[in-house]
Amino acid sequence: GSENIFIDLFDIQSNLYAKNYAIRALIASIPRYFIEVIAFGGIIAIIISMLIAGKTESEVITLTSVYAMAGYRLLPAIQGIYGDLTNLKFNLPIFSVLANDLKENKYKEQVQGYSEKIDFKEKISIKDVHFSYDGNKSILNEINLSITRNDTIGFVGTTGSGKTTLIDILLGLLTPDKGSIFVDSTQIDQKNLQSWQKKIGYVPQSIFLIDDSIEKNIAFSIASDKIDKKRVVDAAKMADLHDFILTLEDDYSTSVGERGVRLSGGQLQRIGIARALYHNPEVLILDEATSSLDGATENTIMESIHGLSHKKTIIIIAHRLTTLKECDVIYLLDKGQVVASGNYQELVDDNKKFRKMANIN
Ligand SMILES: Nc1ncnc2c1ncn2[C@@H]1O[C@H](COP(=O)(O)OP(=O)(O)O)[C@@H](O)[C@H]1O
Ligand SMILES: [Mg+2]
Repeated sequence: GSENIFIDLFDIQSNLYAKNYAIRALIASIPRYFIEVIAFGGIIAIIISMLIAGKTESEVITLTSVYAMAGYRLLPAIQGIYGDLTNLKFNLPIFSVLANDLKENKYKEQVQGYSEKIDFKEKISIKDVHFSYDGNKSILNEINLSITRNDTIGFVGTTGSGKTTLIDILLGLLTPDKGSIFVDSTQIDQKNLQSWQKKIGYVPQSIFLIDDSIEKNIAFSIASDKIDKKRVVDAAKMADLHDFILTLEDDYSTSVGERGVRLSGGQLQRIGIARALYHNPEVLILDEATSSLDGATENTIMESIHGLSHKKTIIIIAHRLTTLKECDVIYLLDKGQVVASGNYQELVDDNKKFRKMANIN
């Protein structure tokens, strides 16, 4: 898998760091010998010069011991300064990298500040959208459709037909080569994108969990002291997860373990759904969020999703057509084009391909 790439990258960096660290330690210790040589050499030079100048023995002894004492006291201080300077020089590049990152973040916040509010009252329109990843092979071709607010919409099609790409365009993660997305009568652009994205709760195919409590995983990316506990519980209830959480040792504070090892696939997916619902989004998008689960688990999750139908706009990409039975409209995608649309029964009646996918002959 791709994890090897990251392990290798880390390996290279940590080797580099170890090497540099060793060199730094060496550089830091060199001046100690250097300073000692100068200090003792200096004392000897002073003694010799005083003897030549004809000072008495007692004068020489008193003066040299004063010098030696002073030198002895100064030595650690000089070394400390030098050590700090090496440290500074060693770490300065890291600082400039971090400072640049922070500056960029600040810039992003400024852009956020300019974000225009967008209203979603009637429909989302996908107008004449064309897309290609490499500027060559067409992935989406002339997509035209509109999604009525609070409807439940399904997208089906074989793997590679362009479903995820279309969702990424809808989320504003990809920009179409031609055409655009409208929310009511407002076109989505850089200025209102943030406001649009805030309205969407997105459940990807695989949920990324952090090794922390269930609560923190549901209120993902929210600072601990800003988590709204009631919202967490509400979201968990909607995702049909609340009763299960109450059976756990520390209920909402129970740790999920690394990457959620203590949870089943269905529970993991429900956390993903609860996470999307925590922000009370107007639009909920599930991209094959349940296709890795067994049919029975998928059904119970879909039941809880359909419990939200006509309260939110729901967009479901599904593999198993049975999950789409309750959709108001289903779009059948093939090679980047919408080839049929209608509700489940209409498509079964009218479309051969859909019938085949639904295993009805
Ligand atoms: N990041 C990408 N770069 C290049 N090609 C991609 C990328 N993501 C998907 N594709 C290609 O775009 C086509 C549609 O993919 P996708 O939208 O993921 O389909 P689906 O979700 O319906 O399975 C496929 O041929 C796929 O190989
Ligand atoms: Mg996909």
